[in-house]
Amino acid sequence: MLTKFAVLVSGNGSNLQALIDEVHKKGLGEIVLVLSDKEDAYALSRAEKADIPAFFVDPGEYPNREEYHMTLLRMVVEAKAHFIVLAGYLRILTKPWIDVFPNKIINIHPSLLPKHSGKGYYGLKVHQSVLAAGDKESGATVHFVDEGTDTGPILLQEKVIVDAGETADSLQKKVLKIEHKLIVEAVSQLCRELKPTQAEDEDEIVAMSDILRDIN
Ligand code: GRF
Repeated sequence: MLTKFAVLVSGNGSNLQALIDEVHKKGLGEIVLVLSDKEDAYALSRAEKADIPAFFVDPGEYPNREEYHMTLLRMVVEAKAHFIVLAGYLRILTKPWIDVFPNKIINIHPSLLPKHSGKGYYGLKVHQSVLAAGDKESGATVHFVDEGTDTGPILLQEKVIVDAGETADSLQKKVLKIEHKLIVEAVSQLCRELKPTQAEDEDEIVAMSDILRDIN
């Protein structure tokens, strides 16, 4: 049985593309669902091109982030995902996600965590902060998601050198290359570790649905 996972995105989706090419197409695991909070996220087109179910769910149609994320959570449970990947997803997940997928949600962040992280540190802002601090190195980190922002145990981390004359743009490009490698490594590892037998798979889905029902 293939390990199944869902990917949450908000933007371009180059990390998603790395997962489509190096994990999904190679049969190391199956991306069963891609969800975006942005209608124009190019990541959605990348998923559609690979015949992966992909949906924009409009946060504007929900009264608060809890209800929005409850809808997304139901969708990933229905898709029978074993774990979740946040690949450039710009929102903070809610507690029920951590209850249903304990240590089974990973996020990629473009810095050497815990540096340059937390609310407001996303996109170019992370790299601008690295340059403003005069850091000589930066990098990328894959970590498990807990209830904080960019906190949670680190799974993989790799450094890059910040060269003289580096700009936020050039640093972003350099780090992104490392991200693609790390996310593929981390997801491949989880696909191996969480590979279920048929029976385990069915039990696990019943357990997740039970937790979800109790939360409601
Ligand atoms: C990446 O830098 C990732 O670390 C951050 O958002 C960016 C997403 O890039 N969380 P992409 O959409 O995968 O191209």
